[in-house]
Amino acid sequence: MKIGDVKGAFGLLMILMLFLRMILRVLDVSYGIGTGNTALVYHHGKLLALSEEDKPYVIKVLENGDLQTIGMLDYENKLSHTFTAHAKVDPLTDEMFTFGYSLFPPYVTYRVISKDGMIQDPVPITIPAPVIMHDFAITENYAIFMDLPMYVQPQEMLKGKYAASFDPTKRARFGILPRYAKYEHSIRWFELPNCFVSHNANAWEEDDEVVLVTCRLENADDVLDGVIEGKINNFKCELYEMRFNMKNGTASQEQLSVSTVDFPQINKNYTGRKQRYVYGSVGNTKIKGIIKFDLHKVSDAGKEKLEVGGNIQGIFELGPGRYGSEAIFVPCQPGITCEEDDGYLVLFVHDENTRKSEVNVIDAKTMSSEPVAVVELPRRVPYGFHALFLNEEQLQRQQAGV
Ligand SMILES: *[C@@H]1O[C@H](CO)[C@@H](O)[C@H](O)[C@H]1NC(C)=O
Ligand SMILES: *[C@@H]1O[C@H](CO)[C@@H](O)[C@H](O)[C@H]1NC(C)=O
Ligand SMILES: [Fe+2]
Repeated sequence: MKIGDVKGAFGLLMILMLFLRMILRVLDVSYGIGTGNTALVYHHGKLLALSEEDKPYVIKVLENGDLQTIGMLDYENKLSHTFTAHAKVDPLTDEMFTFGYSLFPPYVTYRVISKDGMIQDPVPITIPAPVIMHDFAITENYAIFMDLPMYVQPQEMLKGKYAASFDPTKRARFGILPRYAKYEHSIRWFELPNCFVSHNANAWEEDDEVVLVTCRLENADDVLDGVIEGKINNFKCELYEMRFNMKNGTASQEQLSVSTVDFPQINKNYTGRKQRYVYGSVGNTKIKGIIKFDLHKVSDAGKEKLEVGGNIQGIFELGPGRYGSEAIFVPCQPGITCEEDDGYLVLFVHDENTRKSEVNVIDAKTMSSEPVAVVELPRRVPYGFHALFLNEEQLQRQQAGV
């Protein structure tokens, strides 16, 4: 399977990545076979290239713009499992939170990495069977794990079947663990109706509840078929708010948008804290626009399609034949008075008619259809998965690092 051919699978390519991973795993269970091409994270002066089937790779962006691979990071041999592409850095403590998932027990292992880059002991998380777990979330006091019924079945693949299968009859399970727990015994599991989730926007605590804002997929079994058959079926991916009551153990959910929204982004200064704005990508097969939600406004989920009004404050449409990447939120310069949405959304755009690629910079506050800046690129940039913005200080620190 050629990755480029299925670019349009929108937020679900990681499923394909998993098939590739399974193929490789069946032949060789050692590490160092990853693609490092899913997402990036900056922590403790290091820029890490991540993909969930492997450990992180330290890379450097050199002064002249070249990329250099420094090597696999295993925290002095202490990291013995895979590492999610969606590790979280707490903006207030500078700690990094991560997990890996596996075909073999423990199916999930949670880790905290201190702000000095010291990895803490592994915390195995028990779930009944191996599943695809692409993302998780943190709040000030908790880590949230998603045990969703996308089962990994490599033995089925050897019989010519898919390596993953979605079970639409099973409930979705969310495990909430105190984030510095040494053991899993204090985890609380909550159940919600069947779904799959690729990406969470954010989570936080509010009174007795843990709140998770996420892009929720229905009929994920259609998606699997779609990815494999090379056609996109009728799947729905919608913004949802899920609430887990830590006092009385109940869970509830509310739909915040209609389809199709994925790749949710926030101002990362609010990771794990209550925030107001979520930016996402719109489009079923390719990203056609960038959308901004205001969570303080009443949900407009009753609508036929995504349009401005209600909790949708703006949509930046790329225009006919133009498709983009995930848009990264870049906050305004620290030091001046900043509101949560003071900043820019930065994305790659490719025009399939002219075959030109560019970087667009959008005003996140106004979501004006006039970009703040358009940077023409000398050559094609593939649509890609995720992206990261480094400020000048971070850029210099990762260059100086060993
Ligand atoms: C749990 O608490 C929430 C929030 O106070 C409430 O809405 C819900 O009805 C409660 N559920 C039960 C079973 O007590
Ligand atoms: C980030 O959030 C903290 C509070 O959580 C605030 O004190 C700080 O000013 C914020 N920084 C920026 C650059 O917005
Ligand atoms: Fe992802």
